Amino acid sequence: MDGQGDKMVWWREARFGMFIHWGLYAIPAGVWRGRCIPGIGEWIMYNAKIPVKEYERLAEKFNPTKFDAKEWVRIAREAGMKYIVITAKHHDGFCMFNTKYTDYNIVKATPFKRDPLKELSEACREEGLKLGFYYSQTLDWHHPDGMGNFWDYDISKQNFTRYIKEYVKPQLEELLTGYGPVAVLWFDITTPTPELARELRDFVLEISPNTIISGRIGGYLRMPSTMCKGLGDYITMGDNQIPDRKIEDDWEVPMTLNDTWGYKSYDHNWKSPGKVIQILVDVVSKGGNLLLNVGPTAEGEIPKPSVDILLEVGKWLKNNGESIYGAGAAPFDAPTDAPYKFTYKPGRLYVHVFGWPWDGCLRIFGVKGVIEPEKAYFLLDPSQKSLNYSWDNEDLIIHVPDKPLDSVDTVIVIRLGGC
Ligand code: GLC
Repeated sequence: MDGQGDKMVWWREARFGMFIHWGLYAIPAGVWRGRCIPGIGEWIMYNAKIPVKEYERLAEKFNPTKFDAKEWVRIAREAGMKYIVITAKHHDGFCMFNTKYTDYNIVKATPFKRDPLKELSEACREEGLKLGFYYSQTLDWHHPDGMGNFWDYDISKQNFTRYIKEYVKPQLEELLTGYGPVAVLWFDITTPTPELARELRDFVLEISPNTIISGRIGGYLRMPSTMCKGLGDYITMGDNQIPDRKIEDDWEVPMTLNDTWGYKSYDHNWKSPGKVIQILVDVVSKGGNLLLNVGPTAEGEIPKPSVDILLEVGKWLKNNGESIYGAGAAPFDAPTDAPYKFTYKPGRLYVHVFGWPWDGCLRIFGVKGVIEPEKAYFLLDPSQKSLNYSWDNEDLIIHVPDKPLDSVDTVIVIRLGGC
C-alpha cells in the first residue's frame, strides 16, 4: 500500500461517497441561446464555445439562496454515503470558494456572496462525514494560462507551468488550510507532465499528509475514459466504468445518476434505486468505492429525483450496510453470469442475490473446498435463523423460501469456518 495504509483506512471502510458538481453551468443547465447543447452540463462553455466575457456574466446571476449545507449533508448521510467530494473549481475556472487569487469566485463575483465550501465543511464536521474537493488542475477555460480554451486564447502564448505554480498551488494551499481537514483532493483529466504531477502531489502532501489524492493526478495526458492511478493514492476508473473483475488495489469509480455531472434541466435519464444498489454491490464485490454524483440546481437544491433515489438506496443500506461498509472482494470469484455477487469480510461471505431461484434452491457454484460454511442466514433476519443447505458436487445449495425478502438484492450471510 505504498506506506499509505493508515490514511486509506476510513476510505476503504466507507465504500460510498457523494460527488457534487456545482457551478455556474447550473444556470444554463444545458441550454445556451435557446439551443440544447449536447454533452455533459458542466462542459457547456466548451461545447458551445462560449467566450470568457460572455460566460463570466453568469456570475452576476448566480444566487442559490436555497442552498443549505446541512440539508445536503443530511441527504448524503441518509443515503448511506460516508464522504462528499465537491467541485471547488471545475474546467470553467469559476471558483466555488473565497480565493484571493481571482475575483472570479462565488463570494466576490455573485450576489450570493457566501462560501458554500466553508458551510459544507462545517456541516460535514457536525454530521461526521468526510469532505473532499474536486479541483481541475489542468483544464481551466477562464484562466489565460490554463489549458483547453482555444477560442479565446492563443494557445501558443500560454504558460501552463506558470499557471500551476502561481495559481493552482496557491489555491490548493487555500483549500487545504482554510476548510478543516480535506479528506480527498480529486484531481481530474491528468496533468501534462510527470514532473508537474509530482510537484502538485508533493505540495498537497506537504501541507496535508492525510489527504487522499485521486488517480487522475496522472503524469501524462489521458482522457477520463481510462482508468488511471499515476501518482495518486488509488486508481480512478474511467467515468461510469466498472471493471470486469476485482482489482487488488484501492479504486473508485465516479458515476452519474443520469447522463450528466453538472445539472441539465432536460436530462431525466435517472438510474432506478434498484440499479444504484446493484451497482454499489457490484463495485464493492470488486473491491472498489462508488462516488455517485448529484448536480444541484442554480437555486442551490439537489434535484428532487436524485434525492428520491438516494433516500431509497439509503433505506436499503440501513438494513444491509453490514455487507457493504468495510466489506470488499471475496478471495474467490463468483462466476460473472451468476445471479448473485459476493462481498466479503474475514469470516463472513455475503451473497447478494439479484435473481431469485424459482425452485427454492439457491446454487452457489463451485465453492466446495473453497469455503467451509458454518451457518447461513438472511442478513435481514434479526433472529439469524439458520437456512438449510446441502452440497451438490462442487456447488453449495442453500434452501430458500419462494420469495426474496428484498426484490432488488436479498443478502444471505454465510459464516465461514477455517478463518
Ligand atoms: C470528466 C469530465 C468532468 C467530470 C469528471 C467526473 O473528467 O471532464 O466534467 O467532472 O469526468 O469524473
